[in-house]
Amino acid sequence: MNDLAGKHIVLGLTGGIACYKAAQLCRGLVKEGATVQVVMTEGAEQFITAVTMQALSNRPVYTSQWDAREPNGMPHINLSREADAILIAPCSADFMARLVQGRSDELLSLLCLARPRDTVPLLIAPAMNREMWAHPATQRNMAQLAADGATLLGVGSGWQACGETGDGRMLEPDQLLHDTIAFFQPKLLAGKRVLITAGPTFEALDPIRGITNHSSGKMGFAIARAAQEAGAEVALVAGPVALATPRGVRRIDVQSARQMLQATEAQAQSAHVFIATAAVADWRPAEQAGQKIKKDGSGDAPTIRFVENPDILATIARGARATSGALFCVGFAAESHDLLAHAKAKLARKGIPLLVGNIGPAAFGQDDNQLLLLDAHGARELPRASKLELARQLVADIARRIGAQRQQHASA
Ligand code: C5P
Repeated sequence: MNDLAGKHIVLGLTGGIACYKAAQLCRGLVKEGATVQVVMTEGAEQFITAVTMQALSNRPVYTSQWDAREPNGMPHINLSREADAILIAPCSADFMARLVQGRSDELLSLLCLARPRDTVPLLIAPAMNREMWAHPATQRNMAQLAADGATLLGVGSGWQACGETGDGRMLEPDQLLHDTIAFFQPKLLAGKRVLITAGPTFEALDPIRGITNHSSGKMGFAIARAAQEAGAEVALVAGPVALATPRGVRRIDVQSARQMLQATEAQAQSAHVFIATAAVADWRPAEQAGQKIKKDGSGDAPTIRFVENPDILATIARGARATSGALFCVGFAAESHDLLAHAKAKLARKGIPLLVGNIGPAAFGQDDNQLLLLDAHGARELPRASKLELARQLVADIARRIGAQRQQHASA
């Protein structure tokens, strides 16, 4: 992935044991295509060497405002003007206090103060002991930093290097990497609530067995991530899948289609957009045995009767039409052939404004895919790309449509 291609990030390290995580973070930023300029305070140098950070960033590290390498003698100006963002990770309690006061007696705080605030955002990943974190002074400083326009990335919770357990430790490198990538995504769905179903359903036959399908959930999870990055509040109703919950997404795990319907109906009431990516089992066994169905030795296989499952998408879309249509519903169609014809039929049958078609066998379990967006006016193809890239394009498309829909309502 190259989600940070073309971005230049000043990575500031301050004094704290979490400096060891900054090495991994630096590597992650570089791997995503960013150029990284590391700046360290004297305190940070007690925890990790500039040599380590130089090797990982592939650039000499800056540690002093008196650095003679800058011809004009102004590293605080030069470094802050080049940056697309300044990320302080770890940010100690002391460094936060210094930022709040606008102190500038060493390079990192000096360049934060000197940065053009309108064009160079400041991202802060605090790291400290739980008592320091909970102290009113720290909380006051956090609020002031936010008021001054900084983006606070939050803290993790759990075991701390000091042996205590609680809030205040630095987020993990992969979480900070995700937050940095998300920060640069356009906030096309800010203030919107997006509901997504994903994965297969599992229809139990007995306590041991059931029927399901090959859906991995990857497309739905990628859409959840893309919507969250776009500023939406995301609820993800997931069938049984082995995928990590995208950061910042609220996940509700279900097994069967009926459970998925129940969870989805509850969430749909407050949602603005519903995207049904789940591969819901069309049928379920009519009876679910309380105990394992055993072979009886006769050689006869049991006869299993199936009943049709509720259509979650059609049900939610019907409800939305009945209540003034404020919920924008998007369906998915996984077909093995004649994608366009099947997708057109499905668009009409489900009564939805947008249907996304894909070829099932070429999509299931894969990290990339190819989509066909179909509405009442025609079809548009999104060529093969990673599922996350396609998810971002789909989110942008939906954002345009709900913007247009709002304008239509406004002028009606
Ligand atoms: O009818 P078909 O299963 O092909 O339609 C696919 C679309 O409908 C997908 O968006 C899927 O999530 C949704 N669906 C559903 N409930 C079902 C069957 C399909 O929400 N029982």
